Amino acid sequence: ARAVKLAPSILSCDFSRLGEELQAIAGADWAHVDVMDGAFVPNISFGLPILAAARRASNLPMDVHLMIERPERYLRDFAEAGADSITVHVEATQHIHRAVQQIKELGKKAGVTLNPGTPLEAVRPLLADVDLVLVMSVNPGFGGQKFIPASTERVRTLRGWLDEVNPQAELQVDGGVTPANARLLAEAGATCLVAGSAVYGADGGAAGVQRLRDALA
Ligand code: DX5
Ligand code: ZN
Repeated sequence: ARAVKLAPSILSCDFSRLGEELQAIAGADWAHVDVMDGAFVPNISFGLPILAAARRASNLPMDVHLMIERPERYLRDFAEAGADSITVHVEATQHIHRAVQQIKELGKKAGVTLNPGTPLEAVRPLLADVDLVLVMSVNPGFGGQKFIPASTERVRTLRGWLDEVNPQAELQVDGGVTPANARLLAEAGATCLVAGSAVYGADGGAAGVQRLRDALA
């Protein structure tokens, strides 16, 4: 089996202790940064200054998930604030292909994602061009929601499509990931799991990362 990367979402951390909360997940692979604008999703999280602070406080790659309308307006800003990968929603722009090209021109890994209600075909034309495909397994906007079971089959389908055209791309899952479903998702073909509440929820980020690693072992 391939090694599965873990990307804890700092959305669920204690922002008054951002530096310590990032140190707690130093054993993870990436830090997942959820940016919400109150328009594309019904919640506002944080933006550029928090990404820049996280960048200074951690050596982990910063995996930025933009839940914002017309993300092309801000790609350069997020790249300059320290993003290593930038993932955009197909539903958020009229020109998803252009947005992906712009991320690559900025020298960053380009990711594409889609809401649980969006047909997988919406990302299919982009698969050869992206570094990462993210399957949303909750409706974006909030941490701590329940995993939507149909997401597993979506991961499996995308795994097959990616194997044909871009087997190196990361296949990421985000939303309701826990030690109880992590292995199933890895077996379906995911290569990177995002987890917020399952990492920071109980007894701190380090223990949360370890629980997920144990579940995948
Ligand atoms: C949802 C975000 C997720 C979320 C994950 O809109 O994109 O990254 O923070 O949180 P959990 O793991 O608690 O579902
Ligand atoms: Zn996310």
